[in-house]
Amino acid sequence: MPITSALVLHGPNLNLLGTREPAVYGHLSLPEVDRIVRDHGRRRGIRVECRQSNFEGELIGWLQRAARERFGGVVLNPGAFTHYSIALRDAVASITLPVVEVHLSNVHGREEFRRTSVIAAVARGQIAGFGPQSYCLGLDALLALGDVRSRPRAKVNQRRRGGV
Ligand code: DQA
Repeated sequence: MPITSALVLHGPNLNLLGTREPAVYGHLSLPEVDRIVRDHGRRRGIRVECRQSNFEGELIGWLQRAARERFGGVVLNPGAFTHYSIALRDAVASITLPVVEVHLSNVHGREEFRRTSVIAAVARGQIAGFGPQSYCLGLDALLALGDVRSRPRAKVNQRRRGGV
């Protein structure tokens, strides 16, 4: 069975979860959400690492380095960058790892400007509206794609087959 690994990225203002508009985003803090997502990953046999940044460039750097860091896929909640960051979109389009876009809230049932995602077209898919479970569903979506394999194991298998 392949070792699996996924990187979960939270965009701007998601560090304020729990106190930020709880009627929209719920009462769980970001560390609590991360624990739910990591536990879900563990049950599914995936190593999950969660990171949050309020900075576009930092999110872009993490996306660019994700494959080198041995992640097999990315679950990305771009926060407000969803709606206008062409730079983040280009970063998602530039990498070969599968990226699943997720949102806690149902962005399609909210303000008009939230209904547009510049990320969605270059992501493998979008999940929105299930609270913290959106991230778990994002992990499941990566698994369903079947290509979340960590490179170390791939290398071990390659060596066993007589490769480099
Ligand atoms: C969000 C939705 C965005 O519109 C908003 O800017 C966020 C959070 C969500 O998870 O529902 O910061 O991505």
